[in-house]
Amino acid sequence: MHERRIQAETIPRHVAVIMDGNGRWAERRGLDRVQGHRAGIEAVRATVRAAHELGVRFLTLYAFSTENWSRPKGEVDALMGLLEHYLAAELEELDRNGIRLRAIGRLERLPELARVKLKEALERTRDNSEMTVVFALSYGGRTEIADAARKLARDVESGKLDPEQIDEKTFGAYLYDPEIPDPDLLIRTGGEARVSNFLLWQIAYAELHVTDVMWPDFRKNDLVEAVWDYQQRERRYGLTSAQVQRDGKESEA
Ligand code: FPP
Repeated sequence: MHERRIQAETIPRHVAVIMDGNGRWAERRGLDRVQGHRAGIEAVRATVRAAHELGVRFLTLYAFSTENWSRPKGEVDALMGLLEHYLAAELEELDRNGIRLRAIGRLERLPELARVKLKEALERTRDNSEMTVVFALSYGGRTEIADAARKLARDVESGKLDPEQIDEKTFGAYLYDPEIPDPDLLIRTGGEARVSNFLLWQIAYAELHVTDVMWPDFRKNDLVEAVWDYQQRERRYGLTSAQVQRDGKESEA
């Protein structure tokens, strides 16, 4: 319904998604939580396709957090199995559609088979340029910042980096994938207005859209709704509204 109302010129370049609500979706239907995650795969497929159709350039999906390792073993194993299944089943189509896959997180903690499948998918799609889909796997925002600080400290220790040179840009270059621009829009499904340790550094100026839709039910119209909501906002980056409007007019001139 909103599709006609969204503007092609201001589609967010990078959309990041906290895919929450799989467990509740399943419990409400008297199903096992794992069936909620399985149904979530269909929402991943639909969202990748929809984002591509809308012209989103980067889509980051929070598929597994560092905290998720503490879930019951059966659920962790099932999630890893779903990741392997998704990669095996979708690689062909993703590649055919020119989609490049990337992954961020402590990937070395993933089980062997998931790592092998992931590596294959990353390598096969590395030169694609239609859209980039980033999977956050075994990912935590604070861990990412701490990992970056450790790498940076090593470069200072070895004399490669002068502490006086450290600014936001230098620090950002030590994050897991510095080539990916910051998200413009962060969507969270499942109704809770929390950031949950996701992309803490990168979401500094992201617009946040929370929807009550549970992740397994998320489809193109929900993405369109989020983009529409985003397009109603005025992004000021700490400036005044008058400054933003003046700058906008100048760049249009
Ligand atoms: C949160 O729901 C969701 C997750 C922890 C995992 C997200 C995973 C998928 C969508 C499927 C895997 C997809 C790929 C491609 C790897 P929750 O279980 O916290 O839900 P709840 O808040 O209702 O309990």
